[in-house]
Amino acid sequence: MKVILASDHGGIHLSKEIAELLEELNIEYEDIGCNCADSVDYPDYGIPAAERVASGEFDRAILICGTGIGMAIAANKVNGIRAALVHDLFSAKATREHNDSNVLTMGERVIGAGLAREIARTWLTTEAQGGRHANRIAKLTAYENK
Ligand code: RB5
Repeated sequence: MKVILASDHGGIHLSKEIAELLEELNIEYEDIGCNCADSVDYPDYGIPAAERVASGEFDRAILICGTGIGMAIAANKVNGIRAALVHDLFSAKATREHNDSNVLTMGERVIGAGLAREIARTWLTTEAQGGRHANRIAKLTAYENK
């Protein structure tokens, strides 16, 4: 699995934690920043990361901002992206099983690093269930392609 990691200035500390987790899990990843204290705009990082998932260059993205909301909105503008804003372990598992989410977003100002790491670990290691859920995802794809 190849993961692209991005954050705005509001997510740099949590992004570093997630990079460490990806290394621990031996998952190949690219960190596209911002790695900066200066104020930047989350679409400038979230949209390019999502596009690189949609193109097939990466399998998944993990995007961090202050709340996780801006990154989720930005990523979900890109066709083929199913971005899930997750701040609890139940949703981390469910969004992989049911939504086959290919982007995880989290807010550094919302949850601590320990929980965020466990959410990312769960999200990265849970498979999509398919079946009736695949039919629902197919409807989303059909809407995008209409
Ligand atoms: C930046 O201040 C903040 O607005 C951003 O990180 C994010 O929370 C937006 O949704």
